[in-house]
Amino acid sequence: MGMADMQSSTAAPTIIRRSDYRPPDWLVPAIALDFDLDPALTIVRATLSVTRNGDHDRPLRLDGDGLVPLEVKVDGTALAADDWHMEAGSLIIALSGAAHSIETLVELAPESNSKLMGLYASGGLLCTQCEAEGFRRITFFPDRPDVLSRYSVRLTADKARYPILLANGDPVDQGVLDDGRHWALWNDPFPKPCYLFALVAGDLACNADRFVTMSGREVQLGIWVREADLPRTAHAMQALKNSIAWDERVYGREYDLDVFNIVAVADFNFGAMENKGLNIFNSRYILADPETATDIDYDGVEGVVAHEYFHNWSGNRVTCRDWFQLSLKEGFTVFRDQNFSADMGSHAVKRIEDVRILRAAQFQEDSGPLAHPIRPESYMEISNFYTATIYNKGAEIIRMMALMLGAERFRAGSDLYFDRHDGQAATCEDFVVAMEEGGGIDLTQFRRWYEQAGTPHVRALLRHDAATGTVDLDLQQSIPPTPGQPDKQPMAIPLRVALFDPATGTHHGDELLMLTEAQQNVRFEGFAAPPILSINRGFSAPVIVETNRSQDDLAFLSARDDDPFARYEAMQQLMVNVLVGAIAGQPVDDAAVVAAVRNTISDPLLDPAFVAEAIRLPSEAYLGDQMAVVDPDAIHAARESLQRRIGADLAPLWRDMHSRTKANGFSLSPAAKGARKLRNAALHYLVASGAEDGPAIAFAQFHEADNMTERQAALATLANGTSMERDAAIDIFYNRYGHDALTLDKWFQTQAFALHPDTVDQVEELGRHKAFTLSNPNRVRSLYGAFSGNQWAFHHRSGKGYQLVADCIIALDKRNPQTAARLVPPLGRWKRFDADRAALMRAQLSRILAQPGLSKDVTEQASKSLE
Ligand code: PHE
Ligand code: ZN
Repeated sequence: MGMADMQSSTAAPTIIRRSDYRPPDWLVPAIALDFDLDPALTIVRATLSVTRNGDHDRPLRLDGDGLVPLEVKVDGTALAADDWHMEAGSLIIALSGAAHSIETLVELAPESNSKLMGLYASGGLLCTQCEAEGFRRITFFPDRPDVLSRYSVRLTADKARYPILLANGDPVDQGVLDDGRHWALWNDPFPKPCYLFALVAGDLACNADRFVTMSGREVQLGIWVREADLPRTAHAMQALKNSIAWDERVYGREYDLDVFNIVAVADFNFGAMENKGLNIFNSRYILADPETATDIDYDGVEGVVAHEYFHNWSGNRVTCRDWFQLSLKEGFTVFRDQNFSADMGSHAVKRIEDVRILRAAQFQEDSGPLAHPIRPESYMEISNFYTATIYNKGAEIIRMMALMLGAERFRAGSDLYFDRHDGQAATCEDFVVAMEEGGGIDLTQFRRWYEQAGTPHVRALLRHDAATGTVDLDLQQSIPPTPGQPDKQPMAIPLRVALFDPATGTHHGDELLMLTEAQQNVRFEGFAAPPILSINRGFSAPVIVETNRSQDDLAFLSARDDDPFARYEAMQQLMVNVLVGAIAGQPVDDAAVVAAVRNTISDPLLDPAFVAEAIRLPSEAYLGDQMAVVDPDAIHAARESLQRRIGADLAPLWRDMHSRTKANGFSLSPAAKGARKLRNAALHYLVASGAEDGPAIAFAQFHEADNMTERQAALATLANGTSMERDAAIDIFYNRYGHDALTLDKWFQTQAFALHPDTVDQVEELGRHKAFTLSNPNRVRSLYGAFSGNQWAFHHRSGKGYQLVADCIIALDKRNPQTAARLVPPLGRWKRFDADRAALMRAQLSRILAQPGLSKDVTEQASKSLE
């Protein structure tokens, strides 16, 4: 390590600011890469055509991370020592002309790359991950998304060990060498930023198919996995073909290369990566069969395959100017994949699921120390900004624009965006301007959604005047302070509203109100009797709504609202009111909840998947969000008791429903999926009722199931209790699936999620289990990630949960800082808890920060979390 490196590792991490953006000094229109691949020693030769960008005399700066330049040539000549130097890992070269050819040579050791960024080894494969800043771990290059280059890539490797050699773009040529090695040449005609570079070498089998695009071009599709996994790729392939067709139909976007390849790898920091023409996936989002994948897993495969495919336009053809614009591609692409999944299944259920995720992950982020706008102003480590805010809130912002514009004008805006910026590195502002010009709308105030963090609160009070027949809706908005943003401006909030006549059970139409002021009044005429307010229908805006609706009003809406989301929401609010009352020691009659559940499960016109969503109690974490100070034990007790009450009061219905929904023969049809969802809900309430035969019924389902959806649900239900069947099921599951990594993850996860008094001790033990490893991110997330989302267990008053997670973060940071940093946020929520818990949480954050050699990733998350 040189002096420069030693200095950089001890200095405080630099803060990168959006306002500091400057166009690149040098462009790289073309690059040729030559890889001599070997897990212990890979040689990378890069030849860059560089051109000076603008009139300046600044040197060429090529980012590098852990690279040693073994050779540096300019225009074919080795450089003299004083023509280049290293600065914090980067290679700085003084150049005199306007265009040069730069050649560098470096050596890599992929098998010892435990960060899973750059070139690394996973289960016998060699593969790459470059987003956001991994390319600088492969070769010296201006590693920023606004430098776009044409790539030509030559791969050479041992033919027996790595028979398949893949890279971006189209295959050009290949050949065999005398020494048992072979080579392949790939060319990507589309200029791209280096974060979209990828290669894979390995012994892979292919599920091959084809797609004929709307202009009649044939594309070869390949999903590459280990031979044994081939039978588990059918769902991903179908999802891929559906995605390509959907993007043509809904956005008019066609695929552009001759091949589209996907590779599944076992060790991956995130879900998947949209590298041009060569997507690389966490295997959990490719592999699925009934024996090992739940319906949620199947939907995850479909959604992520679509997400990565859609990036080909929203991300690759139009990319991001800088990483502050990340939501430009991620928010838009999540919006696209959400709508795709809705079209493939149920719009109502998909919306409910998406809002549940938003509330669980993003609302928590928005109300904590790591809150940031969807377009942040600064960061230390960009990997920490792949957040629910950038992704999920980002998608909600696009959804609001689509709602305000309507389908046709939104499409005109997106057409303009794609056409105007094709081949460019764009900004969020470019997108908004395209929507304004293409769609014909003024988004001046709406832009605040990009600037202000925090979830807006909307108070909506309805007043009825019987004498005049008028109804006044008084709306008020406020946005809580977030780090660096103490005062907020009013947002433009689109609220879909309807007023129900309780006598007829109908309303006079759904209206879109724009709340733009801090306080606003809307008047409706012609109401002899007070109507019932249905608001934020379809979850039209990502806000928290408070109303003055009674339990009777909510019960009415839970039975009659024709907007499925609002109907679900009314039911949830009905439950929240009862639970929050019980927690606060001010009991609210729970009979209304039981009646609403009974109504819902008895309504033959409802989609079973919707019913299963609607009757589900709000999570313990969501209940915590409704309290000034979270009391995990009181929340747990109240929720358990309501669950038991619903279970016991409706026991015969649950029994009937559970046997009625028993399938014969596995199918992925929406009807079959809905039946399984309802069956699992019924089982859950049946066991919660305390019925003596509950565990036996759950065990029978566990034993007899012909699919993982029912088997895992039965296991999870048993895991919450203390029956003998619990231990038996856990052992049987392990013996049956211990050999399969993805299914073993479920074994860890189910125990870490268990609402069981000993979960914290069990997690400690599982951390020492022979099948646990820190080297696989999925395994780490399935144990510690799941555990830290289990509010009751994680916040055990002993503080042991905090200590376990902190121990994991400290140990993992040395290998894989990105994945370690993602475990920090739950510890940062200390302000929401009582003083004892807060002190214990803070102590763990301080202990983490005191570790010598802590990564930038964990340093940023832990230090911000302490503030
Ligand atoms: N860009 C990827 C996606 O959202 C996510 C990702 C980020 C993957 C960073 C790996 C590393 O599709
Ligand atoms: Zn993405």
